[in-house]
Amino acid sequence: MTTEPKNVSVDARPKRQATVKHIASRKGGTPLVCLTAYITPMAARLDEHCDLLLVGDSVGMVLYGMDSTLGVSLDMMISHGRAVCRGAKRALVVIDMPFGSYEESKEQAFRNAARVLSETGAGAVKLEGGTEMIETVKFLADRGIPVLGHVGLMPQSVHTNGGYGARGRTVDEWQPIIDDAKAIAEAGAFAVVLEGVAEPLARKVTEEVPIPVIGIGASNACDGQILVTEDMLGLFAINPKFVKRYAELGDGIANAIENYAAEVRTRAFPSEEYTYKMRGANQ
Ligand code: KIV
Repeated sequence: MTTEPKNVSVDARPKRQATVKHIASRKGGTPLVCLTAYITPMAARLDEHCDLLLVGDSVGMVLYGMDSTLGVSLDMMISHGRAVCRGAKRALVVIDMPFGSYEESKEQAFRNAARVLSETGAGAVKLEGGTEMIETVKFLADRGIPVLGHVGLMPQSVHTNGGYGARGRTVDEWQPIIDDAKAIAEAGAFAVVLEGVAEPLARKVTEEVPIPVIGIGASNACDGQILVTEDMLGLFAINPKFVKRYAELGDGIANAIENYAAEVRTRAFPSEEYTYKMRGANQ
C-alpha cells in the first residue's frame, strides 16, 4: 500500500514565529519537522513546512566544498545565519556554533553565542558535546541563550571519534550516549539532536530524556527529524544510508545546464522572446 504524506497535515506549528518554548512543548507529540538552510530563498521555501531551520556548520561541506566542518568560521555562520533569518517567518532559526568557538571556556562560548544571536536575529544556537559541555550549556541557558544540544555522532569530533560511522550498534556503546543526552537536558538545553545511532538506542534516549530528541540517522523513534536539505533534494554527491532523496534536483540542474550550453553554442538562446527591441518597434 502506498501512503500519501501530503494528506497527513497535522500542522502543530504556532501562527507566529516558533520559539524554543514551542519546540520544547512538542516532546512526545507530532514529530518536529526540521531541515538545514544556508541562504534566504531556500529558507523562505522551507519555512512554510518546517518547525525549525538549522543553519548547520555542514554549510562548509555543502556550499564551500570543505572535506569536514572543522574549517567553518564564526563569521561564516553569522553571515549565513543572517541570510536565513531574512527568509524565515514561522520556523525557529537555530545557528550552529562552529568548531573552536565554544569549547575553550563557558565565557568564550557566551561571548561568541551572544554575537551569533545579536548579529543574526536567530532564536537559539546549537553546539556539539555531552557531559563535558554541562557547564557551558548551563552558563548559556542561564544567561538568555537557548541551546540545542547535539550528541551521538558529532562531526566536529571526527578526528577523536574515528570517522562518521553510526554509533550504538553494540549495547556496550549505549551508556555514554544516554549519559550525554541526559546531561545536556539537565543542563538546560531545550532540545537535542541525536545523530547516527542505531534504532533501539534512539528509542531509549527519546524515552529517557525529557526534552525533544531530533534525529538524523537515528530512526523514526525520535520526537522529530532533521536532514541536510541539499542531501534530501539530491544536490550533494555524498548519500549516506539515512538520507532519503525526495528529489533529484542535481540531475535537473545538469539537464538544464546541458540545454543552456547547447542553445548558447547554436545561438538558439537568446531567441527573440528574450531580446530587447528598440522603443517604438512593433512588439
Ligand atoms: O551541521 C549540520 O547540518 C548539522 C545537522 C546535520 C544536524 O549539525
